[in-house]
Amino acid sequence: MNRIGVITSGGDSPGMNAAVRAVVRAALSREVSVTGFLHGWQGVIDNEAIEMTSRTVGGIIDQGGTILRTARSQEFRTPEGRAKAIQTLMEEEVEGMVVIGGDGSLTGALVLAQEHAFPVVGVPGSIDNDISGSDYSIGFDTAVNTAVDAIDKVRDTAYSHERVFVIEVMGRANGFIALEVALSCGAEAVIVPELTYSLGHVCEKLRQMAVKGKKSALIVVAEGAARASDIKEFVQSQTGFEARYLVLGHMQRGGSPTAFDRVLALRLGAFAADRLIEGYSMEMVGVDGEKLVAHPLSYVLGTERSIDHDRMALVETMAR
Ligand code: F6P
Repeated sequence: MNRIGVITSGGDSPGMNAAVRAVVRAALSREVSVTGFLHGWQGVIDNEAIEMTSRTVGGIIDQGGTILRTARSQEFRTPEGRAKAIQTLMEEEVEGMVVIGGDGSLTGALVLAQEHAFPVVGVPGSIDNDISGSDYSIGFDTAVNTAVDAIDKVRDTAYSHERVFVIEVMGRANGFIALEVALSCGAEAVIVPELTYSLGHVCEKLRQMAVKGKKSALIVVAEGAARASDIKEFVQSQTGFEARYLVLGHMQRGGSPTAFDRVLALRLGAFAADRLIEGYSMEMVGVDGEKLVAHPLSYVLGTERSIDHDRMALVETMAR
């Protein structure tokens, strides 16, 4: 290969810049040129190509967001949109693509590869950590730490006022962020979409804890499970605790990536570029413990990642 392309696509996540830097510098080290496209797949359709050099990716390892910008392209979901994208790739003499993004972006990559026999390698980039085939996706660790930092502050005021705080975190249809955050913050309860929950049970626990002298509590809820405002109303009406709620929202997607996410992004980005240049396609790179791995995209996208029941149980055990 003489030239590969790179995009960041879907919801941004901290560490995407470090991944772009790794793709570019790994390819350049093998004498392969790199074209970046702005705005994800939509930018490929619209030919927003830019030449990537070592300098274009200088000074970005610590930056949140993505210098390539990102988008969720409706047009790319259509065969016509993908045909336009292929035309751009031909015009720009791009022979394969590294796609950094979540499952929607990777699904698009697989369909393009199947329809047009075009080489693609995916890199998991999403705060949600809901992508099979890698223990971690880029940005999850930073998002968790951002939420933990915010909730640690909330705990101070919850304690002083003897209140229950219900905190809603992101994660789309999954509770991976919520669970990790709940464990890290010592939350009294966590509510995730993957498992049925009983608010009655949560309230009963809070009442029992109050009897034993615990006068404040934190409940972490994943956005895909319930609204924090509804849970706050219910808890307040059923327990007599004064309650407040907080939706952390998009702040979880921003900020400088943690060292963990930077190193993860560098390893995955460089590995993805290597695999693509070596002729692999329709796969996603990931980590399995300390090891770098690559799995077929069909496996990654067809396999549901499941919530860790031991971790869920640990939240319950620790809340007393
Ligand atoms: O997939 C990442 C994510 O941040 C989810 O956690 C969240 O549900 C969604 O994106 C929000 O998307 P948008 O930025 O379009 O509001």
